Amino acid sequence: MVGSVSTVAYLGLEARAVDVQCQLASGLPKFHVVGLPDKAVGESRQRVHAALASMGLSLPPKIITINLSPADLPKEGSHYDLPIALALLAAMGVTDREVLADWIAVGELKLDGRIVASPGVLLAALHASGEGKGLICPVEQGPEARWASGVPVCAAPDLISLLNHLKGTQRLPEPQPGEIEERRHGPDLRQVKGQETAKRALEIAAAGGHNLLMIGPPGAGKSLLAACLPGILPDMTPSEALGIM
Ligand SMILES: Nc1ncnc2c1ncn2[C@@H]1O[C@H](COP(=O)(O)OP(=O)(O)OP(=O)(O)O)[C@@H](O)[C@H]1O
Ligand SMILES: [Mg+2]
Repeated sequence: MVGSVSTVAYLGLEARAVDVQCQLASGLPKFHVVGLPDKAVGESRQRVHAALASMGLSLPPKIITINLSPADLPKEGSHYDLPIALALLAAMGVTDREVLADWIAVGELKLDGRIVASPGVLLAALHASGEGKGLICPVEQGPEARWASGVPVCAAPDLISLLNHLKGTQRLPEPQPGEIEERRHGPDLRQVKGQETAKRALEIAAAGGHNLLMIGPPGAGKSLLAACLPGILPDMTPSEALGIM
């Protein structure tokens, strides 16, 4: 039986599709991970084994082969733990393979089955949005993943609640997009004395998204007025914030 789960490989600021396949074959019990895994990915065998044991599941007494496809692309990072565990559970018949086909999974596993954060979840969410799939990620990264608009996000605290959610016996709450950090360091428009016309022009430009040309003698306050502009601009929309990332 072959289980298959989609995940991503991070290459700089790009996420590439990776298919995690798991096959169970008869023979002396062994657990292989192939497909250019680095040390962290290779060690996921122990974490997956322990996480399954914490749910009361033992590894099947078979040859377990995990293939990370495309096989010639190097795989780095701890976020492969969750897709490897899900592919194995699908091969064991614990989870429904068809349900998993709609999702991309990223997340690191703790020995007790908790799913914890690993870097790059926003890239994975943007990739999922391009592929028309949902994203399964750690619960603390749900708000970050939610920034990629239109992607169903399943933010799970641990493996058991994720399996129950996929089965439909438990509903995990849909995460909300994270807050934009307030960063207002520049001068305030209140510090500018007089210059009522210039201040009004600044407000109109900020509200309407217009351009500004400031002309005046040295020391008239042009640089001061320009530095006040970020403080009165409206908050960025999620797509604008992602655009300047
Ligand atoms: N209307 C004002 N209210 C308060 N401070 C002002 C005002 N106009 C100028 N200043 C102060 O005067 C100094 C010079 O202003 P600023 O550097 O903004 O001038 P500028 O028009 O950019 O000059 P330059 O053309 O030489 O670049 C700054 O310290 C600024 O805070
Ligand atoms: Mg100036």
